[in-house]
Amino acid sequence: MNTIQVNLGDRSYPIYMGEGNLNNPELLAQHIKSKQVVVVTNETIAPLYLQNIIVNLQQYQVETVILPDGEQYKTLASLDIIFDALLTKQFSRNATLIALGGGVIGDVAGFAAACYQRGIPFIQIPTTLLAQVDSSVGGKTGVNHALGKNMIGAFYQPQCVIIDIKVLDTLDDRQLSAGIAEVIKYGLIRDAEFFAWIEANIEKILARDKQALTYIIERSCLSKAEIVAADERESGVRAILNLGHTFGHAIETGAGYGTYLHGEAVAIGTCQAADLSRRMGWLSDVDVKRILGLFKKALLPIEPPVNLSAEECIRLMAVDKKNVDGEIRLILLKSIGEASLPIGVDKSQLLKTLNEYGRSN
Ligand code: NAD
Ligand code: GLY
Repeated sequence: MNTIQVNLGDRSYPIYMGEGNLNNPELLAQHIKSKQVVVVTNETIAPLYLQNIIVNLQQYQVETVILPDGEQYKTLASLDIIFDALLTKQFSRNATLIALGGGVIGDVAGFAAACYQRGIPFIQIPTTLLAQVDSSVGGKTGVNHALGKNMIGAFYQPQCVIIDIKVLDTLDDRQLSAGIAEVIKYGLIRDAEFFAWIEANIEKILARDKQALTYIIERSCLSKAEIVAADERESGVRAILNLGHTFGHAIETGAGYGTYLHGEAVAIGTCQAADLSRRMGWLSDVDVKRILGLFKKALLPIEPPVNLSAEECIRLMAVDKKNVDGEIRLILLKSIGEASLPIGVDKSQLLKTLNEYGRSN
């Protein structure tokens, strides 16, 4: 088992990575300081993995909350279901919450932990590739609003992150690809060598070669841990993790939550960001071709939905946490391996990307 530390002073925590970690009671025991434990998961993951967790918790008072599955349930209403369970069972302020699931469960349950009695300890057990390489690390928690993705939330760090690569066996191919989108992101924003490695090994990753999966999870978590340690609350460099996300969030919200997977929307959004970076004179045609080519090889969509107009995109992009005084600000690419900090872009250039990129067919 490998461990990476997220260094945040008294809020530092380990990310445990290995095969079989779900069945290791020691990992949980080290981080649970209470008698009461609530496990939050969803109706898809519960039959697969809930029991693995429960058997490790026999000495605790355990409550489970099983939410419906889907991005459309990343809402305040789901938060209320968790609060109802905690209050009905009179859970105290030292109770521990375990988030068992993908990014949706991690974000909702993490936000519930941040809010319940003004904050209870929580543990992330991410079960999708996307959650293992990105959402479980760094303490961003929250829910969607009908008018904007992730618009309500808090920074709230977990006690630890427990990654078991074995759970990826049951993940379907579409979800695996969605996770690869965030892995490619790390290469693009700060690690050209990693981008080239992914290009050379994409078939192995898609074939779920254990060594390849372990490598991408570790290298991604290392990147994320370094960025979060440098800028926990996104006042600077952490923003680069949002490459493609402003475009992507507009696609997710515009198409209706759940139509595109988050990673799929990020893939399309990153291609749009690459197109705009080329228009800025930063990326070459060859760079853009490499980027689009890798997302395609990873079986991800690269073109925006035909029925989402440029004007509607702009309207949706105006609701974004990186915007300042109402101005849309984007993360773009200076080169493969180097992202810009958020910059205001010329609206006519942005409209050209929105109207022209991927609209030819
Ligand atoms: P998800 O949580 O919806 O999970 C995807 C699907 O896979 C779901 O149907 C889920 O039930 C199922 N699933 C999960 N684990 C499984 C397993 N091991 N086997 C079989 N099925 C399994 O989606 P996601 O891609 O994990 O996360 C997307 C969410 O994460 C979005 O809401 C996004 O905004 C958020 N996110 C947050 C951060 C952050 O920093 N907090 C970063 C990136 C993304
Ligand atoms: N996924 C973006 C971030 O954690 O900052």
